[in-house]
Amino acid sequence: MKIVKTVKKMQSLSEGLRLRGQRIAFVPTMGYFHDGHISLMKEARKIADCVVVSIYVNPTQFGPKEDFSKYPRDLDRDLKMADSANVDVIFYPSNREMYPAYYQTYVDVEKVTQNLCGMSRPGHFRGVTTVCSKLFNIVKPHVAIFGKKDFQQFITIKRMVDDLNMDLQILGFPTVREADGLAMSSRNQYLSKEERLSALTLFQALKSAQRMYRKGERKSSEIIDQAERLIERAPFTKIDYVKICDTKTLKDIQNIKGESVMALAVKVGKTRLIDNHVFGDELKI
Ligand code: PAJ
Repeated sequence: MKIVKTVKKMQSLSEGLRLRGQRIAFVPTMGYFHDGHISLMKEARKIADCVVVSIYVNPTQFGPKEDFSKYPRDLDRDLKMADSANVDVIFYPSNREMYPAYYQTYVDVEKVTQNLCGMSRPGHFRGVTTVCSKLFNIVKPHVAIFGKKDFQQFITIKRMVDDLNMDLQILGFPTVREADGLAMSSRNQYLSKEERLSALTLFQALKSAQRMYRKGERKSSEIIDQAERLIERAPFTKIDYVKICDTKTLKDIQNIKGESVMALAVKVGKTRLIDNHVFGDELKI
């Protein structure tokens, strides 16, 4: 497995691969790997000649009061895990490499970033779309792979790639969960034992929404009320949002008709967790 730290070296490596007709699949990450990340690397492995994974904790997607400096990092562990998943190249740039002095260009996707996490994390998606545009220009992948755990991020990246005619395909894969249903996240390690128990209510709320939907309930407010009650019953939880949205526009909907997603963001202690369920999909552990 190669480790590449500069933009120039990554670009020339990718250019060489492309000239030799090799297909490049790319998994952008912020590191501190768990099985969710590894599942994406394995999907990449199935469809490409060369699998590139970036590890970069991107400062522009964190708000001033968020956890950028204490975001978990463990490069040695990440390298071992990526190597076991048969990754070919790790792109591991420094902040100076990504945002040198005089940096001043940003990519902003307008509408789908307004609702949900866009409300409580202003500027977050602007940071995500900016860094992903840069990474796409550096890694030059044929396909980039994202997890649907970050549903709004996935929809936003697809919108950007379509709108800006970026010449790559975006694929999304299902959320990988712990044995009890908690969605895997690098931030789960912030949770105390007691908070970890309360964090389970996110999955339980999605399960209850799925049950109601299967029984024929289509009124968003009924499903949301039930989910909120479930989450609020547990200690340490503070709901940021529980919403049901159209999967294309990410606007709130009152009655479920077309493809819709229930999305949640909940603070458990100081840790903000998100999860979602697209009605009609499986909700697998
Ligand atoms: P990060 O949180 O490290 O996630 C990297 C990728 O792993 C994302 O596509 C995310 O959706 C996916 N992922 C996270 N948890 C998952 C789970 N439980 N199951 C399946 N996939 C999961 O998302 C980011 O980094 C950053 O915003 C990034 C896109 C790298 C831009 O900086």
